[in-house]
Amino acid sequence: MRKIIIAIDGYSACGKSTTAIEVAKELGYKYIDSGAMYRAVTYYFLEHLVAITNPKEVDRALQQIKISFMVNKKGDTETFLNGINIEKSIRKMRISEFVSQVSTIKAVRDAMVSQQRKLGKDRGIVMDGRDIGTVVFPEAELKIFLTADILVRAFRRQRELLEREDLVDIDSIIENLQQRDKIDSNRTESPLVKAADAVGIDTTHITIDEQVDEVIRIALTKMIRSIKRPA
Ligand code: CDP
Repeated sequence: MRKIIIAIDGYSACGKSTTAIEVAKELGYKYIDSGAMYRAVTYYFLEHLVAITNPKEVDRALQQIKISFMVNKKGDTETFLNGINIEKSIRKMRISEFVSQVSTIKAVRDAMVSQQRKLGKDRGIVMDGRDIGTVVFPEAELKIFLTADILVRAFRRQRELLEREDLVDIDSIIENLQQRDKIDSNRTESPLVKAADAVGIDTTHITIDEQVDEVIRIALTKMIRSIKRPA
């Protein structure tokens, strides 16, 4: 069957990554977490004290950054920056607090989008983020846009952080999610917006399994239709 591109966009902590991982596994597709790439850039900028208001410094830093992904023994994808595993570090609140500012920078977005398109050139990919269906792969056969109630999202994120042995109070998480949603939705460069042809799914009252099943159901329908009506 012809391989398709599945773009999953939406607000922070709506279950985009969890859904994308499971959908990719079920379909035997590659999974790419585009948010991890912005987090990796943010990590580099913080570690190297890059002044984000200085375009030359930003450009120089971007040339030094090589992001890659590897699947570990447990089957989880981990993020590498210049060959070093930074998966744990990029999930910390110190990165969450700064990542949306870094993600507003055009040079950063241009660099990430070009890498993301290369990763998707063979299709058969599930990528999650904010601008995947609108900017990275506007031609994606399936676009999903996830939303959920802020409290549900915050408790889900708190549990995820706890699983990583990181105890963060719920108010800080809510504040961070709201602040990131605001910056992500209002930036000039590829803001977070639902693509006109995206399927919206509100995940407030559904389980991850239900989310995954729904996306797979729509994906299979798209694939079958593409056999019937060749492009
Ligand atoms: O996992 P969570 O929903 O908290 O966020 P993420 O997917 O790890 O993304 C972290 C941040 O990266 C977002 O808040 C955005 O500022 C930025 N991002 C973006 O601008 N474009 C993307 N395609 C993915 C993430």
